[in-house]
Amino acid sequence: MTASMTREEVKERVREAADIVQIIGESVSLKRQGNTYRGPCPFHNGKDRNFTIWPKTGYYKCFVCHEQGDVFSFLQKRLGMDFPTALKTVAERSGIDLPRTDPRGQSSPDPREVLWGTLATAADHFTSVLWSDPAAEQARAYLASRGIDRDTADRFGLGYAADGEKVLSHLRNLGLEDARLTEVGLRTPGDDDRKPGPRFWHRLMIPIHDAAGHIVGFGGRTLGTGKPKYLNSPDSPIFGKSKLLYGFHAAKLAMRREAKVILVEGYFDLIRVVATGIDYAVASMGTALTEAQAQLLVRYTRQVMIAYDSDRPGLEATFRSADVLLEHGVRVRVVTFPPGDDPDSFVAKHSRADFEALLDQALDVFDRKVQLAERGGWFADLSKKRRAIDKLLPTIRVTADPITQQLYVGRLAEASGVSADVLWREIGVTAPDQGPVQRAIPPRASRSSPRPQPRLIPGLNAEREFVQYLLAARALLEPVASRVEVSMLRDEASRAIYTALRSCGPDATLEELTRNLQPEEIALVQEMQAKGTMGANPAQAVEHCIAALRERELKEQSREIDKKMKYATDAEKNNLMHEKTRLRDAMRVESSKRRRGAP
Ligand code: CTP
Ligand code: MN
Repeated sequence: MTASMTREEVKERVREAADIVQIIGESVSLKRQGNTYRGPCPFHNGKDRNFTIWPKTGYYKCFVCHEQGDVFSFLQKRLGMDFPTALKTVAERSGIDLPRTDPRGQSSPDPREVLWGTLATAADHFTSVLWSDPAAEQARAYLASRGIDRDTADRFGLGYAADGEKVLSHLRNLGLEDARLTEVGLRTPGDDDRKPGPRFWHRLMIPIHDAAGHIVGFGGRTLGTGKPKYLNSPDSPIFGKSKLLYGFHAAKLAMRREAKVILVEGYFDLIRVVATGIDYAVASMGTALTEAQAQLLVRYTRQVMIAYDSDRPGLEATFRSADVLLEHGVRVRVVTFPPGDDPDSFVAKHSRADFEALLDQALDVFDRKVQLAERGGWFADLSKKRRAIDKLLPTIRVTADPITQQLYVGRLAEASGVSADVLWREIGVTAPDQGPVQRAIPPRASRSSPRPQPRLIPGLNAEREFVQYLLAARALLEPVASRVEVSMLRDEASRAIYTALRSCGPDATLEELTRNLQPEEIALVQEMQAKGTMGANPAQAVEHCIAALRERELKEQSREIDKKMKYATDAEKNNLMHEKTRLRDAMRVESSKRRRGAP
């Protein structure tokens, strides 16, 4: 490639060279089908293989949610990359050298390169000290005592800062100036009381990477009981502990593959969990998740399993983090450890399988809250009930996903005995600010809410429209018949017409079709035929109806569980909650189909 090529030319060349199937295939499971590859759509989280790639032209499209584009837009939309980054990524993957000047015509070396380079150099030094300097004997023994072997240590780039002065003089000898060492936080700037000097002394050094994989700072652990336990790099132009997640860069692919992430608190929690073979984990590095950290996560996954300590402060941090995530429409589950354990100590004592068992038992965060309130007798006592509800309402209020929000209201109504209508009113009236309030108003009460309302109310309309579109587009009948049983319809006329359509086949005449129908059903068929497709795309409209029907079915099942829950024992309750969690996931999928598929 030459610098004289236009941006469009560069883009074309890279797109032609790219293996779109391989790149998308890293996050979507694809199957070949003729000249295309198909898989479940990652944009609307579809289950069926409606997401299609045409390798020949380099384009993809989902037939349900209509997302479409090329390999660049895929990376931009799925991973939140900007275009230049997407271009660079694809070019690298395709073995293409981009022109030195970037396609916008300006050659601009990133000013952060020198800072990244400085920290990478320091990290190298810390690693070599850890493994070959006699002064690091204690650090090696410390790692061994925690059961961290050499492979694991190397995987995480662990090192040791022994004598801080020696660290600085080593780096100076390599030509790194004090000003720069100060800028990246390896040297303290000094103040009235203290001279400038090395920041890290006798600490196990854990490199922290940014999302792109550059080392941007360190966490330094004391080997003994010195305070603070962890000394971290100070904020710098490239480092901010509250904006980063430890382990994030390495977990990106896995988070997408698994469509979830385990959120732990500490450095060693992360190291232990990943070392045991579970690679979709990140650490928030103490305290609750920040807004910036949540934003990083939601670019990759919509399901977070919080695995903090299960003690009081741990639970408080869990619930605070959960609220931040719920605001982003993320599904949050809580992993519960035996008293005194964090993920690190639990895995060290038990096994990966035991840890996975805890993951399987993770409850939806709201169920966990209700469970704790129930165990504490908060719903048994009338005077406590009010306070318990007040404590739970804010979480419902911030929950951005409308389905999740409705389910939470239902759950609270069921646990407290206060009607859902009253709870909805409470959510609206006492909400502290405007944003969430509008969301919080239940669909029934507010047709004019700014949130796009599903056009179909699950029920009669969906059934009638379903039949109407099938009548108008008979070619759809065969693929649909295998997916939608007659029993999914409740309206007698819709059932009768659908049954007739199924038994007569796509080529049936009107006469054949109506032979066994009642007069009012025949009238309905005629009325429907007159309406036709009403200008909608019938395939899309039918999908939309099916999603509404499925959602209705899931809601009914969920209501059944609520009823059972009232008389269940603790053990049964647990099972029921898991069942509800499953239903809730399925509902979310259908609801997003229904909303996105709306003609
Ligand atoms: N942390 C920190 N600075 C501190 C204390 C804690 O940055 N002074 C962050 C670290 O990321 C730490 C996490 O908060 O890993 C959790 O802290 P804590 O539970 O106190 O430590 P552990 O991770 O359990 O540490 P270890 O297992 O090494 O004892
Ligand atoms: Mn620990």
